[in-house]
Amino acid sequence: MATLDLVGVRKSFGATDVIHGIDLSVVHGEFCVFVGPSGCGKSTLLRMIAGLESVSAGELRIDGARVNELGASERGLAMVFQSYALYPHMSVRQNLSFGLENIRVAREEIDRRVAEAARMLRLEPYLDRRPGALSGGQRQRVAIGRAVVREPKIFLFDEPLSNLDAELRVRMRAELGALHDRLGNTMIYVTHDQVEAMTLADRIAVLRDGRCEQFDRPLELYNAPANMFVAGFIGSPRMNFMPAKVAARDGAAATLTLAAGGRVRVEAVTGSAAEGADVTFGVRPEHVKLVEAGAGDADMHVNLTEQLGGESYVYGTIGDGHEVTARLPGQTRVRGGETVGMALSKSTATYLFGKDGRALKRGAANA
Ligand SMILES: Nc1ncnc2c1ncn2[C@@H]1O[C@H](COP(=O)(O)OP(=O)(O)OP(=O)(O)O)[C@@H](O)[C@H]1O
Ligand SMILES: [Mg+2]
Repeated sequence: MATLDLVGVRKSFGATDVIHGIDLSVVHGEFCVFVGPSGCGKSTLLRMIAGLESVSAGELRIDGARVNELGASERGLAMVFQSYALYPHMSVRQNLSFGLENIRVAREEIDRRVAEAARMLRLEPYLDRRPGALSGGQRQRVAIGRAVVREPKIFLFDEPLSNLDAELRVRMRAELGALHDRLGNTMIYVTHDQVEAMTLADRIAVLRDGRCEQFDRPLELYNAPANMFVAGFIGSPRMNFMPAKVAARDGAAATLTLAAGGRVRVEAVTGSAAEGADVTFGVRPEHVKLVEAGAGDADMHVNLTEQLGGESYVYGTIGDGHEVTARLPGQTRVRGGETVGMALSKSTATYLFGKDGRALKRGAANA
């Protein structure tokens, strides 16, 4: 068993507050991912959990017990860094066993664990090589192996794949998922790659400026972002946001006037969006349907199209230059310089946000 609770956790470096009070509960066996822009505090939070940084206020609990005052080696955790941090003068076998020798684990037990980790991570052919004679992916597997042999309660990963090339990242991502399935440990994983987050996580914590904006299952974040930040951060290309005013309310529906021109109807509004209120209309690029100019809710002046074969991106502007992106399945005949219409009201996958950025609609029906 290994649960992890963060209760009002804060961190300051001198006079600078970096983590502003984070509450999170990670359940046993959960693969939890921290995502967020550079500098938002992901590594700091992970290092606090690891015991490599002190906690300025609040409480960290592992299996319900406070660990704030426990040293890193007493918490039963193992951390894997982006930089691998392998010992260059030691063989792979020595790199794997060194930490266990230090804490005086019996020789046979060390050999058993090293053999098992090497088999699991397909490192057997390289056990007698030094890290300098391994590829990046092999080195990262050694770094992961070094965590595995410690049989930690919780694994902590800080961007473990970001030094690998794109193809290897995809392969290692699948291997990490398989490792989690096999071991069943609680894992906390930091990345700013949202594909990694979406594919690996049971739940994702979206961090921004030292605060947790939303902690939820990947598709829940995608379909029902709590606010504009999460809506813009999850999904690529990012969601189109259009400033608007509520022109009329009719039960749960609202008719909006877009600042850039055009009118849109939004269904299933739950938050307060009174007539006259300033709001932001949101629609993901894949839900922008293109029609003939004048036949949609607003017209778009196309600047550029990109044809990827299987799908196409159409980049343009509405009104006085507000940028919009549409993502279409297959190939498109639309070209730069044309004007097309955008059918927005027909989509059920539209979003609405208040002046404070909070969602005024309980998610979108995407399925
Ligand atoms: N030892 C330190 N002293 C002062 N400020 C620090 C220290 N370590 C980190 N910070 C600051 O804390 C903030 C969060 O840093 P952190 O490394 O946790 O971000 P991150 O989300 O991991 O970013 P990245 O995605 O770039 O790795 C940053 O503004 C950083 O400058
Ligand atoms: Mg970091």
